[in-house]
Amino acid sequence: MYWLGIDIGTGGSRALLVDAKGKVVAGFTAPHEDMKMERPLWAEQRPENWWDAAQKAIQGVMKEAGVKGDQVKAVGLSGQMHGLVLLDGANHVIRPSLIWCDQRSQPQVDFINQTVGKTNVVAHIANPMLTGFTLPKLLWVRDNEPANFAKAKKVLLPKDYVRLMLTGEHCTEVSDASGTGLLDVVTRRWSKPMLERLKLDSSLLPEVKESADITGKVSKAAASATGLKEGTPVVGGAGDQAASGVGNGIVRPGVASCTIGTSGVVFAYLDRPQYDPQGRVHTFCHAVRGKWHVMGVTQGAGLSLQWFRNNFANGNDYDSLMAAAQTAPPLSHGLYWLPYLMGERTPHLDATARGGWIGLTAKHGRPEMVRAIVEGVSYSLRDCLGIIENMGVEVSAVRASGGGAKSPFWRQLLADIFHRRITTLQNTEGSAYGAALLALAGGGEYKSVEEVCDAAVQEADGVNPNVHEAAAYQRGYEVFTVLYPTLKPVFGLIQQLR
Ligand code: XUL
Repeated sequence: MYWLGIDIGTGGSRALLVDAKGKVVAGFTAPHEDMKMERPLWAEQRPENWWDAAQKAIQGVMKEAGVKGDQVKAVGLSGQMHGLVLLDGANHVIRPSLIWCDQRSQPQVDFINQTVGKTNVVAHIANPMLTGFTLPKLLWVRDNEPANFAKAKKVLLPKDYVRLMLTGEHCTEVSDASGTGLLDVVTRRWSKPMLERLKLDSSLLPEVKESADITGKVSKAAASATGLKEGTPVVGGAGDQAASGVGNGIVRPGVASCTIGTSGVVFAYLDRPQYDPQGRVHTFCHAVRGKWHVMGVTQGAGLSLQWFRNNFANGNDYDSLMAAAQTAPPLSHGLYWLPYLMGERTPHLDATARGGWIGLTAKHGRPEMVRAIVEGVSYSLRDCLGIIENMGVEVSAVRASGGGAKSPFWRQLLADIFHRRITTLQNTEGSAYGAALLALAGGGEYKSVEEVCDAAVQEADGVNPNVHEAAAYQRGYEVFTVLYPTLKPVFGLIQQLR
């Protein structure tokens, strides 16, 4: 028998089949349409396109593995977090989704803080309100598109829209719900005070379950669309970061993970909810029953490199960009990259922050520009790690995953900048793998998420910091931390030009 994990990412949907021991049998990715960016800092995708891609990915992986629907015992879902999917009474999508990196909703964040009170927000949802979260996006629609808001009967997150198409159920789970701005992260229930103060009807929200709970069964229509068997259970799954946490085995204290995808995340397990007093990292429910996690997010991690490749290095694959970067020296001859292409979350919580190179001279060329990007993204991830450590969370080593971590060069650079051993796992599938492991746990094969991780997740190798480079990067990091506060007034002025 096999278990299926599906990750509804930003770039594409990935389906992954594992066996009872959690060994990967096959994987298949179907790409998504590019995000639509009508204005700077706006980002939208079509939920219907996610479902199309998910169907292709499921069919693709089953074909590749030669697995039939009746051999798949349970399905787990993971996906990009925070996106707003608005549905009418007939479950039709009302407008494209404002996705995780959309930053248009600062006026709504201000309104929430005024109406509920900034301190009360933290008391209700364990986090400050952020433009990235789902709630201010929903209020943006209420303020700017009242006709669309009037039609809305349900609000879902990206992977939960795919769940609806698979099972017919409106349901989410605690880890993804944590990123809406409407979940009381401590009690793991929707926050009544938030809903009441903002005059939102609780019927807009789906039921919320634990990540390994069964949320529904594959419907007849979905069975014929995907090749899965009607009645196959679908477990809650998790937001992509908590799923990746499970896939990386971050289910106990001590070892953190660093995932470099479109965004970059440093993620650590928590036995109890613990906060950064300034709210610069997120304290969210973990996909482990009754546990939490903390994570710092760099908005433009892999995105920085993707942006460079698409605009200035047409035809170059990432491997050749990395090879070019290695011909430049550490610190890139004093060139810095600020990765704030979509504003920034950790540590600045500033939707108006802008990206760019600082320190260009006529000596610099493409190798320095690429190396500076890798260094700048890694410094920004170090910002995340630093805040988590200052909260008293122990991090003895870091497991790297995601597209960026495939590069041995980037992993060594992370070790040097983090001053930590960076390990990789035998299986680097991340979120889709975590979703499959949750299907294994929820399908009854294992007693708990911890137990399935113990059985399935194994380290492959690791790199230690180089003393020399680590010292150089320490000096580099000190300069990096001065750049944002110095430029902040400029970002404000640019914002006023709009
Ligand atoms: C997490 C976050 C991103 C998205 C897209 O808070 O915004 O990781 O889930 O991957």
